[in-house]
Amino acid sequence: MDIISSPIEMQNLCRGIIMQGRSLGLVPTMGALHKGHLSLMQKARQQNDVLTVSIFVNPVQFGPHEDLEQYPRDMAGDIEKIEAVPVDILFNPGVKDIYPEGYSTYVEVERMSNALCGMYRPGHFKGVTTVVTKLFNIIRPTRAYFGQKDYQQSAIIRKLVKDLNMDIDLVVCPTIREPDGLAMSSRNSYLSPKQRDAAAVIYATLTLGKNLITEGHRDAKAVQEAMLENLKKEPLIEDIDYVAIVDTETLSPIEHISEQVLLAIAIRIGKTRLIDNIIV
Ligand code: PAF
Repeated sequence: MDIISSPIEMQNLCRGIIMQGRSLGLVPTMGALHKGHLSLMQKARQQNDVLTVSIFVNPVQFGPHEDLEQYPRDMAGDIEKIEAVPVDILFNPGVKDIYPEGYSTYVEVERMSNALCGMYRPGHFKGVTTVVTKLFNIIRPTRAYFGQKDYQQSAIIRKLVKDLNMDIDLVVCPTIREPDGLAMSSRNSYLSPKQRDAAAVIYATLTLGKNLITEGHRDAKAVQEAMLENLKKEPLIEDIDYVAIVDTETLSPIEHISEQVLLAIAIRIGKTRLIDNIIV
């Protein structure tokens, strides 16, 4: 596996691959890899001639009081995992490689970036779309892979790709869950054993919402209330950022459920912010 940190070197290598007519898959990550990331890599491995993974903890998508410093990092463990996939190229730039002195250009998808998590993490999605644009420009992948767990992120990146006419296919892969339903996330490693058990309420609540809708409930507010009540029963939840029922494309709130909707939850257990969603 090639391990590259220089954007120019990466760009030259990737241009060469594309010029040879080979397809190039990209799985962008911030490292601390888990089974969710590995499932994206396996899918990308099947669909492309060459597979690239990027590991870059992007400071620009963390707010001033967020967990940038504490964010889990395990480069040796990550390399072992991705070599086993196998991955052909690891792009692992440093902060100065991506944001050199004097860097001043940002990419923002308006409106959708202020909904849901955007309300609680101002500037987060601007940081995501900026770094993803840079990765796409450096690598020019044929396909890029994202997890449904970060549904809003993938919806915003889909809009970015469409609005900026980027010639890249986005592949969104299903959320990988623990046996009790908890969505795999690098941030789960922050949880104490008790908090980890409590976190199962998130998926249980999404399932409750799904069951109400499949039983025929159409009033989004009533479904949302029932979900909220269920979350409130868990004493280790300190904050409920949102329980939302929104349009799967625009992420705008729905009042009457008449077609596919996204059920999404963001809560805090201790200092750990957890998100999850399902489409019903
Ligand atoms: O989902 C992530 O890990 C990050 O937001 C991403 C897409 C790699 C951008 O930093």
